[in-house]
Amino acid sequence: MKLKEQYEILNFKDFGDNRGDLVVVEGSGQDIPFVMKRIFYIYGSDDEVVRGCHANLNSEFVMINVCGTSKVKVDNGSETEVIELNRPRMGLYLKQMLWKEMYDFSSDSILLVIASEHYDEHEYIRDYQAYLNMVGAEKKD
Ligand code: TYD
Repeated sequence: MKLKEQYEILNFKDFGDNRGDLVVVEGSGQDIPFVMKRIFYIYGSDDEVVRGCHANLNSEFVMINVCGTSKVKVDNGSETEVIELNRPRMGLYLKQMLWKEMYDFSSDSILLVIASEHYDEHEYIRDYQAYLNMVGAEKKD
């Protein structure tokens, strides 16, 4: 499958007015293409940290930098793309079996992640070569 078919940039509705912004993320196939089972958020990282570095057999994710910015590198074993998360109303939807790395966090970055599954370490692929073998890709140096 082409990398472009394995992720999607989402733009959530913003009911901003003179009191401030209010961004709405509806689950269950409305704004998020799955039923949410878990959220987690990452903060206190910086521009030297690289997080993620794994793929998931089952979980799908939507990532939102609700504050600050970060970058996400997505990799399907054949193609890579870097997406900058830089707006609170922007979401990055990732399908299963994508290798992902999150990095270049601004000091105020709060990266909210919405997941389609409960946490299960067994569905994590943390070895890049094992990932390439599973997706049938050639080793990249
Ligand atoms: P890790 O997978 O290294 O986080 P990231 O990929 O976002 O950098 O997870 C760090 C620790 O937190 C690890 O011990 C597993 C644990 N963890 C949970 O228990 N539940 C969760 O939902 C997540 C995302 C991590």
